Amino acid sequence: MLLVGRNVEQLFETKHFVEQRGGSAVVLPYDIGQTVQIEALLRATENIPVDILINNAGFGLYGEFVETDLSHELNMIDVNIRALTHLTKAFARGMKVRGSGRIIQIASTSSFHGGPFMSVYYATKAYVLSFSEALADELAPYNIQVTAVCPGATYTDFAKTADLATSGLFKRPGIMDANTVAKLSITGYMKGKTLVIPGRSNAVYVFMTRFFTRRKFVQMTHQLQAPTHSL
Ligand SMILES: NC(=O)c1ccc[n+]([C@@H]2O[C@H](COP(=O)([O-])OP(=O)(O)OC[C@H]3O[C@@H](n4cnc5c(N)ncnc54)[C@H](OP(=O)(O)O)[C@@H]3O)[C@@H](O)[C@H]2O)c1
Repeated sequence: MLLVGRNVEQLFETKHFVEQRGGSAVVLPYDIGQTVQIEALLRATENIPVDILINNAGFGLYGEFVETDLSHELNMIDVNIRALTHLTKAFARGMKVRGSGRIIQIASTSSFHGGPFMSVYYATKAYVLSFSEALADELAPYNIQVTAVCPGATYTDFAKTADLATSGLFKRPGIMDANTVAKLSITGYMKGKTLVIPGRSNAVYVFMTRFFTRRKFVQMTHQLQAPTHSL
């Protein structure tokens, strides 16, 4: 396993976890929000045939678009879109040459409609889903499976990083735990699915987008996420 991230301590914890279970792992501390670091990561891994790429890194930002810090949003686009695209191209090329590979892209239930007060985040996840569905089709003849995973709200560090304390997003019932989301995601991926929506309530939520106008879903998300909820 090649473990990429910025938090070296957490990466070594994961490496330890993997090795205790008989696997092997290498820690690669790179900030993929910076193109130079992606290029350095690719140089460090150029002789390693990567069979499965998991593009999980990503983050959100909560707040009224005109008030939030642009640099955060541009960095979000760099991580959620630019890095994901760069890494997918680099590793998919090797997979094509070898005639096999698997790519898991972490999108979101927010890939399916616009999200007021997290407008850039929702848009980045729409990109991830659209890009992954197209690639799944394009790469299938090379025996490369692409799976887009679309979790709903899940207990991780996401809410803290995105500054979601005053949003209603994590104050509803049905927030999932990360282990369950991961297990359901792997189960769907093992079945060869292009789209995996972990959890029944998330699947129903996405299914409902077929019965409301896009505008209606944006309005409902506005109600849920409007910054009126105090802690
Ligand atoms: N939690 C939710 O409610 C939810 C719902 C739908 C989709 N998602 C998606 O799930 C994915 C995982 O997020 P999470 O919920 O597990 O949140 P998280 O606990 O905050 O994890 C985010 C991960 O992204 C990595 N990361 C962020 N910026 C990075 C950078 N510049 N370079 C390298 N790695 C970076 C972090 O590693 P380091 O800190 O080590 O850099 C960390 O492993 C994201 O794509 C997110 O959009 C989350």
